[in-house]
Amino acid sequence: VILTQDELKKIAAYKAVEFVESGMVLGLGTGSTAKHAVDRIGDLLRQGKLTNIVGIPTSKKTEEQALSLGIPLSDLDSHPAIDLAIDGADEVDPHLNLVKGRGGSLLREKMVEGACKKFVCIVDESKLVKHLGGSGLALPVEVVPFCWKFTAIKLQNLFERSGCVAKLRNDCEGKPFVTDNGNYVVDLYLKKDLGDLQIASDATLRIAGVVENGMFLDMATTVIVAVLVLDYFFGI
Ligand code: A5P
Repeated sequence: VILTQDELKKIAAYKAVEFVESGMVLGLGTGSTAKHAVDRIGDLLRQGKLTNIVGIPTSKKTEEQALSLGIPLSDLDSHPAIDLAIDGADEVDPHLNLVKGRGGSLLREKMVEGACKKFVCIVDESKLVKHLGGSGLALPVEVVPFCWKFTAIKLQNLFERSGCVAKLRNDCEGKPFVTDNGNYVVDLYLKKDLGDLQIASDATLRIAGVVENGMFLDMATTVIVAVLVLDYFFGI
């Protein structure tokens, strides 16, 4: 049996939900992997196997999903200490540093997951990279819409030595993609690694106009990776 990528995501998500206990305040992630975890939490609540859960969603989309499943919700203002967050990632390096935000929810994810005692990240094996930015895909940065080009050029120049190209993210209609916070996303495409990630992250945040970047450094306490193992049988 060969599993699809989505089935692998579901396996990782269900495994992470095994960490959930009744009475917990939970950070609810965003994306196609986290969606399975939220579904599972909803199922367990409905079956009475979990009780007294409070969810803190990391996006409007997850909020809608959780509400439709009857998961009680709150926010960081009312619950500044979160027991456990479960969320996906776009890239995971060998030190468990992550790239997140290709779904555009990086700011709320970073706020919620930064307030957690435990952050369990769930991925399929396609997300594993040697260094962040190593998949050739975007490193997202949330920026204010005001003079976004100015900010994008500053970001591109900052990582010039990594061959950085900065592009504004568009939605499917070709208009600027707008985050839940009313901001834009500039995606950075890198040809080489960023060197010291903390220095790189701090440098982006010093650019006026940058709201947050998608580097989640030293935040994941556990990463669950669903791996497809193929068995070959040779007959005579
Ligand atoms: C949302 O902005 C992201 O950070 C997602 O958590 C990340 O993109 C992983 O998404 P998938 O689980 O859909 O791959």
